[in-house]
Parts: sequence; structure tokens; C-alpha cells
Amino acid sequence: MNYYLFAGPTMTDVAEAYTTLTGTTPLPQKWTLGYQQSRFSYASEKVVRDLAAKMRALNIPCDAIHLDIDYMDGFRVFTADPERFPQMKGMIADLKQQGIKVVTIIDPGVKVDKQYAIYEDGLAKHAFATNPDGTPYVNTVWPGKAVYPDFGNPAVRTWWGQNQQFLTDLGVAGVWNDMNEPAGFDGPIPDDTVFSDNGQPSTALAMHNVFGQNMAHATYDGLKKLTGKRPFVISRAVYAGAQRYTTVWTGDNRSTWAHLRLALPQLCSLGLSGIPFAGTDIGGFTSDTTAELMTRWLEAALFSPLLRNHSTARSRLQEPWAFGEPTLSIYRKFVELRYHLLDLLYDLFALQPSLPIMRPLVLHYQDDARVQTLNDEYLVGESLLVAPVVEQGATQRLVYLPTGDWIDFWTGKTVAGGQSIVVDAPLDHLPLFVKAGSLLPWRPLTQSVDVATETTLTFRCYGKAGVYTHYQDDGEDLAYQNGAYNLYEVRFDGDQASVELTRQGYPHPYRKITVETAGQDHVFYYVPEARAYRE
Ligand code: GLC
Repeated sequence: MNYYLFAGPTMTDVAEAYTTLTGTTPLPQKWTLGYQQSRFSYASEKVVRDLAAKMRALNIPCDAIHLDIDYMDGFRVFTADPERFPQMKGMIADLKQQGIKVVTIIDPGVKVDKQYAIYEDGLAKHAFATNPDGTPYVNTVWPGKAVYPDFGNPAVRTWWGQNQQFLTDLGVAGVWNDMNEPAGFDGPIPDDTVFSDNGQPSTALAMHNVFGQNMAHATYDGLKKLTGKRPFVISRAVYAGAQRYTTVWTGDNRSTWAHLRLALPQLCSLGLSGIPFAGTDIGGFTSDTTAELMTRWLEAALFSPLLRNHSTARSRLQEPWAFGEPTLSIYRKFVELRYHLLDLLYDLFALQPSLPIMRPLVLHYQDDARVQTLNDEYLVGESLLVAPVVEQGATQRLVYLPTGDWIDFWTGKTVAGGQSIVVDAPLDHLPLFVKAGSLLPWRPLTQSVDVATETTLTFRCYGKAGVYTHYQDDGEDLAYQNGAYNLYEVRFDGDQASVELTRQGYPHPYRKITVETAGQDHVFYYVPEARAYRE
């Protein structure tokens, strides 16, 4: 066993040092920070089209719909059911017109079926793990008897990556990798099953913990090659360093208050472990959620980078409208808030890649004994403190504010930190506090992320004076790696404000930037000849 030690003295030093060993999260496509709707399963084109139409009719901002295993033909990966999804490409294109992308699930288990090309091709390529006697190892998963790709073999990863073309040709925008611990309904894979480790023979025992990660790696490489875009991969199983290839969701939680409470320390711990791009199944996966739990879950998880409502078959429906009013209006209000503040998350990904997005307070206030075990509040970056209600029936909560001044996001009132305060939090209220001396980027409301239409941006100022760096690019491809991005420095001091374009590499700077100080709105226009903003 190898031990690696990271010296502090601060927790942020340790978190940053850890990512120098394991890597950071590459910048995601911007739309992946939007709201995503899922269910096991939206099982026909009509269901998916109706869902998208309803999102738009009810004005719930939404960037993606996820297709769970029932879109496939008999759960065969890299196929689509010809009866339920006969025009999948057309459906995906139509949804795209409405600003909604499609993400599809892919499991590792390949159905044992002599008529099935992926199985036959994989066999011919010796792509599957084997028993010690050399025959393919078989377990049972959703498709019935299935074999497991040997993802520790680079050639198998390349093959799996190429297979994503079935999906990218359909227009699929992201791939959700599930069951990749790997799961097997007949029980765990025996330790002596033969896998490989980068060309060397190995075993299930040695490769178990990196199986999911290697699968995500294969998917990432395949998508990158096929699309030229920043790959969007979601994985259930990961290992140290997974952030280089994939986002993570926390698997099959339950619609219970205990699991809602668990979500915050889970997501904060993933962030501290170098995996900031994570999320939980909002509303809870198994068992029936309630209107109250659904609402509180969305509020609590509102700033988790992966924002997805997902639930299992046979549990009650939990789409935003499934509970009627007032749940629908509250749901819309918070999803809209997420979209207004989406650039805060994107800026953190771009400018602080080695730190979490959702941060336990202890990360920035490590000497404050009162935050060392606090796990029902979190910070987004350093400036926004989120204190959701995670207790059934509660309409108030104690909020601990660390040292410094904090401004109530909703009322603008300044509250001194270093104390706990009682905050009223009826069902439609999410307590939010902004650290004095901060600015928050505030986007115009849209129903999905469409970078091409981003021509204006507002910055809201909190406290007496502050400075904020904002990042801008096309939100999609890899050109930013060659410098195709802009940086803005926005400052305020009392009622004074300034905007400086400190770097220009992306050819579409905002036409107009507004800085809202306490006393007035400062409007800056881009002057192309000067390559600068003028008030
Ligand atoms: C697993 C996944 C879950 C998915 C289901 C069906 O339980 O964790 O998210 O809905 O499989 O694919």
C-alpha cells in the first residue's frame, strides 16, 4: 500500500495538493449545469416528447431529459427499441430545437446473445473478462445473462469508446454509466475472474475498484473523439481521480428525510475528495416522495453541480408538476434561481478547478470549532451560504454564520457572523446568505442554457467593496484550451463600479454588463474599437 501525505496548513491547501496527484475536473459544457429530468423510465418517444412539451408549457427551465434502460432493445447496450423509439434521431433533433438535450444510460453488462453485434464483436476481440479457464465470465444483469468488458485493457476501452458512436449519431448529448461497480444479480464477481490492468493479466479482486472508472474513462475518450465537445459522462462507481472523466451521482437513495440529510455531507465529501461535479437523485429514488420532501430536496440540492430529479419505476411520479400547486410554483422559483446563478458555478469550475463547488464551512473556517461537524449548511465557492431545511415539518431553522458580515440574499439585511440565528423558512423559502464584499453573477432568465444568446450579464454587489473575476467561453468545445476565453474583472466600492476585460480570446464579449451596487445600477457597454467597457 502506498500512502501520500499532503501538507497544509489550510484545508484548501490540502484539497488543492490532492488534485495535483489525482487531477482536476475539466471544464464541463455549460448546459450540463442546467436542470435535468429523469425517471426509470420515460419509455417511449411520445412520453419523452410530452415531457419536454410540458416543461416548456409550464416554464420549468430544463436542459436535459434522461432515458433510462427502457429505451434500449431488450436492454442491449448501444441499441434502441424499434417499437417504442422508432424515430429516436428525429425526436432528439426536435427536442434540441426546444433547448432540451437527451442523455442515455449505458450499463457495462453486454447481453449474451448470438444475434447481437456488440456481443459477437466483443467476443471476437476478446473484450470480456474470463473465468480462470478462459471462458467468458457470465453473471445476470438487466438484459439477463451478460458478460463484462475488461475495461482495464486499453484496446477494450477504445472499442467501447467507438461504440458510443451509435449514440452520438442519434444526437445523444451525454452518457450515463450505471451498474459499474460492477453489479451482478447472481452475486459478486469471483475474485479470481480474469481482468487485465493496462495489458498485464490481473484479477477481479485487483480491478474491482477501478472498473467503473475505467468504463467512464472509455466513454469520455470515445465521446471526445466523436464529438469534439467536452464529454458529459455520469457514473455511479468511481475511484480517486474519476473527476478527470466523469461526474458522479450518489446512486439509489430513498425518498426519506434521513437520505435528504445525508445528501449534503455526501456531496461535500465528494467535493473534498476531488470530485466536485456530483449530485443526488433529487426527491429520492426508491419509495414515494411527498410534496414537502420533494420541495426541500430541490432547495437543499439547488447548487449541487449535477441537478437531476430521478426516481424509480413503480414509485409515484415526481416531475415538477406531479404534486400540483403550490409545489409547482415553488419548484419553478428555485429552478429559475439556479439558472440566474448558473454562472457562479461555471466560474468556479473554470477558475478554481482544484476546489469543491459545494463546500462544507470547515473548508474556509477551519479554526472555528462550531463548523467542524456542521453538515446541514454549505458554501457555494466562498461567497454564498446555503442553509436548507432538512427536517420534516420545520418552518424555521438555526443558521450558523461564520465570522464576518453576511447579507440575507432575500431581504438585503446585514447580519453579523460568529453566531447562530433563527431564520423563518416556510416551505417556499431557502435561507441564503452572501458574504459581505462579494459579487454574484446574475444571468437573465432563460429556459435552457444557450451560450450564443448570452449577450448581457448582471453582477449584484454585496457589502461595501469587492472584486469578482468572471470567465466566458463558448461553453461547449475545447477551444478554450487554446485560449478562446474571456476574463472580466468587476469591482465595486460603495457606489462606484468598474468592468475590465482583462483577457480577450473568445470573440463574443457581452454587449452590455450591469453592475448593481446598493445605490444604483451601473450599465457598461462594450466598445469594440477600444476593446473595453464604458459606462
Ligand atoms: C440502477 C440505477 C438507477 C436506474 C436503474 C435502472 O438502480 O442506480 O438510477 O434508474 O438502475 O437503470
